[in-house]
Amino acid sequence: MCGIVGYIGHRPAVPLLLEGLSCLEYRGYDSAGIAFVQANKIHTVKAAGKLANLEEKVATQHSFNAMYGIGHTRWATHGKPTEENAHPHADNAQTLTIVHNGIIENYEQLRDKLKSKGYFFLSETDTEVFSNLLSFHYSEKKDILTALQCTMQEVEGAYAVVIIHKDYPDQIFAVRKSSPLILGVGQGEYFLASDIPAFLPYTRSAVFLNDGEIAKLSSNSWEVLSSTDLKAITKEITTITWDLQAAQKSGYKHFMLKEIYEQPQVIHNCLAGRISKDMKVLLPELDSLDIPKQIRIVACGTSYHAGLWGMHLIEKLCKIPVQVEIASEFRYREPLLPEGTVVFALSQSGETADTLAGLRLAKENNLQTIGLCNVVGSTLSREADRIVYTQAGPEMSVASTKAMCSQLVVLFLFALYYGQRKNTLSAKEVSDYITDLENIAQTLEEALPKFHADAKHFAKKYAHAKSCFYLGRGLSFPLALEGALKLKEISYIHAEGYAAGEMKHGPIALIDKDFPTFAIATQDSLFAKTKSNILEVQARNGKILALVNDKNDIDTEDTWLIPKAKDALSSFYILPALQFFAYEVADSLGKDVDQPRNLAKSVTVE
Ligand code: M6R
Repeated sequence: MCGIVGYIGHRPAVPLLLEGLSCLEYRGYDSAGIAFVQANKIHTVKAAGKLANLEEKVATQHSFNAMYGIGHTRWATHGKPTEENAHPHADNAQTLTIVHNGIIENYEQLRDKLKSKGYFFLSETDTEVFSNLLSFHYSEKKDILTALQCTMQEVEGAYAVVIIHKDYPDQIFAVRKSSPLILGVGQGEYFLASDIPAFLPYTRSAVFLNDGEIAKLSSNSWEVLSSTDLKAITKEITTITWDLQAAQKSGYKHFMLKEIYEQPQVIHNCLAGRISKDMKVLLPELDSLDIPKQIRIVACGTSYHAGLWGMHLIEKLCKIPVQVEIASEFRYREPLLPEGTVVFALSQSGETADTLAGLRLAKENNLQTIGLCNVVGSTLSREADRIVYTQAGPEMSVASTKAMCSQLVVLFLFALYYGQRKNTLSAKEVSDYITDLENIAQTLEEALPKFHADAKHFAKKYAHAKSCFYLGRGLSFPLALEGALKLKEISYIHAEGYAAGEMKHGPIALIDKDFPTFAIATQDSLFAKTKSNILEVQARNGKILALVNDKNDIDTEDTWLIPKAKDALSSFYILPALQFFAYEVADSLGKDVDQPRNLAKSVTVE
């Protein structure tokens, strides 16, 4: 995915574009560029590498009095992260230039068609195909809106595109299909962005563009048109209630660290408004739906791990069969989806292409769909039959932390909610679980500084491992997967999460004194089994760092003590401990924690 911005209004555009891009850098950071109009000429500045390189280049090359322009920060899909491939991309005639987030799937056919008409291409991107196709239609239709309409009929795939055109001074156009694009409505100024923080310092009024819509902005007006008939559409303005501070580092070294520390508050926020005075779970979004006969959770990455965790709890507390699916597999394997199955699409961003495809597959099969999502107004929130927000606030770090915590809380609430409706749980049991959830937020708040200090201590010892295992059983198995994912993605140390009992079926062959294991060995019903698996590793000279509730529980190289909590509540301690550990390892190795190599925050491509 990439981040795109557009600005038109009464202030100099260039600093605003750069500021907006800095809020979107989490979406991609391998090259960046802007285009703006000055003295009736489109100027484009691009740089490979992080946004800082572009800022430096802009500062040395340009004075800023352009009042409108567009910008882009890239996560490469088509072509290497070079300056040539960086956006914006102009057409051959240099009459228009565009920034694009998404993938044009039929770009090869379109490129061949354009080549046969004499067009040439300077980059390897699919975006340049869009700009030239638009230019081609414009040369025929002589009207930008009709040209956009024709272009949208021809391109396949996902795109959010923002356009400036020499023949339309003081105007910006934008189109969207399956990639996020939000219009910020200010006083005499308008913004376009892939995400809200890019314009939040200037306006809280947002308009979420839908697929197939065209936005037309000038410095004193905005309009949204349907690409089908070019007629104006009435759009609702949403007021953004969260603060920009939520999307800033607030004194923390990294967003990831801040977001780990925010988890107690996230638990509060997730519960807010969802517990009745008589201690019942309120999920009014689901009241009018039948109780699912079975549930498929479809998700990717960290959200998939949260889904696996949720499966344990839902099956245990409300006796609904659950299957959890990696979205990129689910969408292509022609799954059997019996009537009465409800598909839960779980996604922080609500923009993950594979998860959205899974949701659409469920809808094609006439199944009910429920989205669990953090980002208000995201594609998932608009396409699912019902949406339950996880209310974690903006998550800026590429490595997901607090979003997973919020997903666990919401999945817990689902289990209690259906348990209430099915009477698999008594009122007293539901009330006790709710009290436990409310209390865990408080105790976690107190525990986090100690977890962090311990993580620093252990990170020093383990940061130089080349590979390691994470082991857990039951609810701790998905957490082991998550611990390994966190370590891999930000420290680049090879790590694998395993069900502790599965080690002996092959992976244990890798164990030697230089291949450590992070074992989750808290006191749950499977503790004795986990302990046996740890002993098996120790018998092969494997070093163990064990997360335990009592130092006497187990004799390992290192024991990391965390407070004991009842059943599933323990996960709310284990998760931040794993996150702090990965963070401290990566930071001690000098890695770019918030912007790890090769990654982007949400993956809007296949
Ligand atoms: O926005 P989503 O929850 O759908 O994102 C899914 C994954 O791309 C995401 O969790 C990814 O694995 C993160 N980098 C994990 O830290």
